[in-house]
Amino acid sequence: MKHFHFQQIQKSFSNEIGGQVSVIDNLTFSTAEGEITSIIGPSGCGKTTFLRIIAGFEESYSGTVTIEDGNTKATALPVGTVGYIPQEPSLFPWYTVEENVAFSLRLRNVSKVSLQQRVEELLRMVGLEAYRTYYPKELSGGMKQKVTICRALAVPPPFGLLLLDEPFSALDSQTRNALQQDLLSIHTSQHLTLIFVTHNIDEAVFISDQVVVLSQLPARVKNIVTIPLPHPRDRTSPEFNAIRKDLLNLGEFMH
Ligand SMILES: Nc1ncnc2c1ncn2[C@@H]1O[C@H](COP(=O)(O)OP(=O)(O)O)[C@@H](O)[C@H]1O
Ligand SMILES: [Mg+2]
Repeated sequence: MKHFHFQQIQKSFSNEIGGQVSVIDNLTFSTAEGEITSIIGPSGCGKTTFLRIIAGFEESYSGTVTIEDGNTKATALPVGTVGYIPQEPSLFPWYTVEENVAFSLRLRNVSKVSLQQRVEELLRMVGLEAYRTYYPKELSGGMKQKVTICRALAVPPPFGLLLLDEPFSALDSQTRNALQQDLLSIHTSQHLTLIFVTHNIDEAVFISDQVVVLSQLPARVKNIVTIPLPHPRDRTSPEFNAIRKDLLNLGEFMH
């Protein structure tokens, strides 16, 4: 089984007067293949920056990202090997749903038949097969996010790692709850390991195996809470609420 280790990650940005602002300070945690980790912390504390480091988009940082698989260890994840759902909607407006999903398959010269099969499989998985010829502007926010997830998974990420940056934050709570459920099914059917940034404690407790609570800027790990509850989880159960309360207390500074 693979393990992903993030060790002593540190990152600073330069400010306008030539100084350095520390954004991530000594951030360390690990996750095992198949796990769902949520990262919560106040806005501006460095969550997006951390995901960008894992995705390989940030060049200057210190610390190590290691994938351990039995006796083999690889350091750093080459750019493009990790699935990444950014915070801002990122569908191509001039492409239809199926063209958006097929985008990375086309870049790889996959045969037309396999391409169509994969696109069909993914759209069926999220219940959007009837919308394949729609354009993004004709879809609701929740549908757009489903298409974004399908697009990120069209070519399965080689390490099965998918990063999601507050993907449901712009959605109403009913849609958000439905998408959390969808994400859990996708996680199982596509054999994924998820790292999921969220502001929403209820969401973190509903989906995660562990929640990494970050401090104010610069981000460091304040606590790691493991959630042993079986799925499907009941948001109204006393066990669920006890964990939610612990996290609320830990995240009292969140806004
Ligand atoms: N490219 C950049 N250059 C300078 N500062 C940045 C850059 N990207 C992010 N920051 C700063 O780093 C801090 C963390 O940002 P971010 O990772 O987006 O936080 P979060 O996702 O937790 O809201 C913020 O203070 C932000 O202004
Ligand atoms: Mg962010």
